[in-house]
Amino acid sequence: MLPLEIDNSLLETLRQRRQNLHRLVDFPVVLWSGGSTARNFPANIFPFRASSHFLYFTGLPLRNAAIRLQGGNLELFLDEAPASNALWYGETPSIEEIGAKIGAIAVYPMAELAQRVTDAATIAVQDAATWTLQSQLLNRWVLPQQPPQDIDWQLAKAIIQLRLTHDTGAIAELRKASEVTVAAHRAGMLAVRSSQGESQVRAAMEQVIMAHNMTTAYSSIVTVHGEVLHNDSYHHSLTPGNLLLADVGAETPGGWAADITRTFPVNGKFSPTQRAIYQVIWAAQQAAIAMVKPGIEYADVHREACLAIASGLVDLGILRGEAEDLVHKNLHALFFPHGIGHLLGLDVHDMEDLGDLAGYGEGRTRSDRFGLSYLRLNRPLEPGMLVTIEPGFYQVPAILNDPKVRSQYQYLVNWERLAEFADVRGIRIEDDVLVTSNGHEVLTAALPSQIDMVEELVQQG
Ligand code: GLY
Ligand code: MN
Ligand code: MN
Repeated sequence: MLPLEIDNSLLETLRQRRQNLHRLVDFPVVLWSGGSTARNFPANIFPFRASSHFLYFTGLPLRNAAIRLQGGNLELFLDEAPASNALWYGETPSIEEIGAKIGAIAVYPMAELAQRVTDAATIAVQDAATWTLQSQLLNRWVLPQQPPQDIDWQLAKAIIQLRLTHDTGAIAELRKASEVTVAAHRAGMLAVRSSQGESQVRAAMEQVIMAHNMTTAYSSIVTVHGEVLHNDSYHHSLTPGNLLLADVGAETPGGWAADITRTFPVNGKFSPTQRAIYQVIWAAQQAAIAMVKPGIEYADVHREACLAIASGLVDLGILRGEAEDLVHKNLHALFFPHGIGHLLGLDVHDMEDLGDLAGYGEGRTRSDRFGLSYLRLNRPLEPGMLVTIEPGFYQVPAILNDPKVRSQYQYLVNWERLAEFADVRGIRIEDDVLVTSNGHEVLTAALPSQIDMVEELVQQG
């Protein structure tokens, strides 16, 4: 069974994308979808996700398939499903039918691929079986997490140019992912007061995503330990006084993602200390979002948020000094060690399978400075880009209890004052912001982030 239908409008979008690629490269291109990985036997698999570069040009999450693109045309390579599939997985369309759905000019069994792609450029797929096959067929190393070489590098640059700014078809899908993600977060906020544990809130959120025939775009983070940045465990119970950080995003059947974080008090009322820090992060987020428009450097948006956080922490008596100087000395990064956000599209952290090739413009490399080293996007913004804006405040023991940090910043941080904020482990507020021709649109704006509205929503539950 195929998980989605390709309508005429999507078919036209796919044709346009192939034509756009043809304008940028004059060599043949072959893209693999990837295969599934067995958990314990071949029919019991980890959830399959087709490669995003493949999805971009085909729209269908086919398994163990490849496409050859040249001159704006698509040839599909796919084996017929074995006869036993009809019993276990239902009738599968023939490869000709699948090819017709996506507008292929020819279809071939996989065995034909070897003769037809020797001169083609490609991009490594993440699963080992597929990148091994890619390397064998193309007679060169094609490795994930390695910078592509020669024509593969030229192809990567061309695909980045296409995928950096979203076409109308993509934006429509991204809006759907945002809408469902907003609904999931509302459900989480409404569920928290009657939930005993993180798991129940996570279930309430993910059930909305599943009920809309979508899946999660990444492992949900629903935790009272928001200071653990990628905390995907969800076994803690909820205690009055806790803040719950929920970073959950939906993915449409075609693979388009949303990425939202909200942080809210489990009993519906922020403590005075939680309220004070929340307001600092919210103000930083608002200031950063307000800057988003074509031509603005994303690194400057990051810097604006850092300044707002530093100055808010000075006002609260946690930092001592002047915001510009504190940011220069990386003081903000003690509490906000990551970047202000990243690209969003077919993947959360869109195109980070290509390392920093997409996130960093020509001639730019990542800084090794604490506070900038996790900045994943450093380009001028362009209409059609979708970025997240996600400042945070975290009390990470590994950073703040480090004796070197304590002695280096013994004056610039008022450690006694900071100790009064012990009930704030982690706060992040994250929205998805589309760059428009003259400014921006927050695709996730329907989900409140203003503190009183967040409390009100939780209290309604
Ligand atoms: N959900 C992962 C992130 O916000 O980057
Ligand atoms: Mn994010
Ligand atoms: Mn997120």
